[in-house]
Amino acid sequence: MNMNRGTTLNSGESAPRLVEMLDYLHGKYNNDIARDTRQGLAASQKYIPCKYFYDARGSKLFEAICQLPEYYPTRTELSILRDIAPELMGTFAHKDLVELGSGGNLKIRILLDAAGESNRATLRYIPVDVSESSIVEAAQDLLERYPELQVLGVVADFTSQLDVLPTERPLMFCFLGSTIGNMDEDDSIAFLQSIAGNMKPGDRLLVGFDMAKSKETMEAAYNDSRGVTSEFNKNVLQVLNKELNANFDPSHFDHLAFFNEACSRIEMHLKANRDISVKLESIDMVVEFKSGETIHTENSRKFTKRSIEDMASRAGLCIQKWCSDRDGWFSLVVMGLNHSSWAKVAHVT
Ligand code: SAH
Ligand code: AVI
Repeated sequence: MNMNRGTTLNSGESAPRLVEMLDYLHGKYNNDIARDTRQGLAASQKYIPCKYFYDARGSKLFEAICQLPEYYPTRTELSILRDIAPELMGTFAHKDLVELGSGGNLKIRILLDAAGESNRATLRYIPVDVSESSIVEAAQDLLERYPELQVLGVVADFTSQLDVLPTERPLMFCFLGSTIGNMDEDDSIAFLQSIAGNMKPGDRLLVGFDMAKSKETMEAAYNDSRGVTSEFNKNVLQVLNKELNANFDPSHFDHLAFFNEACSRIEMHLKANRDISVKLESIDMVVEFKSGETIHTENSRKFTKRSIEDMASRAGLCIQKWCSDRDGWFSLVVMGLNHSSWAKVAHVT
């Protein structure tokens, strides 16, 4: 394992428990955001990768989105998790629970509660996220709730740095919230393949998928009446202002979110409401926007049972368990290595 900067965090004066933190993003983030922005804003359809939403403010705004009445995915996934947690976690002991794109700790707490105190004392929880602040907050709160739990926070990009994760112990990966929908199809298959490459026979992967449903319901979830999603979308411009010394004025852009039927995805854009010229000093770039032109900031794919089965089999994974709510709005899918991947692992070891 390629050890990088390791730090420890105190969980509070009355309970001096330490969270171990590893930061693999340090130094890389600045290069990545410069490269990705240069590329994205020079494209004919301008874009910014959605991982740049999540600075400390963006992470908080996402947590606020999860509480909105229109944003059904979080509460639906939570209800399914409550149903399946006892079976998933009842005998889960002496293992690592690795959560990719962990964000807040609401969902993992359901699994940790179901594990029970004696199992929890043998577990290690490993949240992996680009947002250091959300790992720190979530981990400190977990240590207060579960003093017996070990937590190792990993600040890393899960699309390119999965190899930094410890895999010696049996484990379960969790990839919740339908964050997989923020990748295009090829990237999500490559991503699942790289997770499979880190799994051993017996290890599991739990993935949350937002399912296709009425266009009205899906579009309302990304156009909430309080404007929190609009703030979240525009926050990416403030990230570029801060990180690249740019001079975006967020009020010169409007939030736009709609369902693209042909690609089965919600698209989020920022639409210029006037002609604009923006300077990004750190990358020595000037970008012109015509009124009405958009920056594509996020895709959020909506799945069917068939599209999930197809993705899993192309990634070398088999589906062990399907769990959905009564309306079929969201699915939690437990996967394991399929027999051919199993044979590859056996061959290598
Ligand atoms: N799993 C949580 C949070 C989902 S929001 C939930 O279900 O509610 C997506 C999370 O993934 C954010 O915390 C964001 O910071 C993180 N993230 C996005 N792209 C990432 C990447 N490439 N590598 C690591 N984390 C990423
Ligand atoms: C994290 N991700 C799955 C969310 C989604 O629904 O695509 C991010 C989000 N964007 C707008 N609202 C929420």
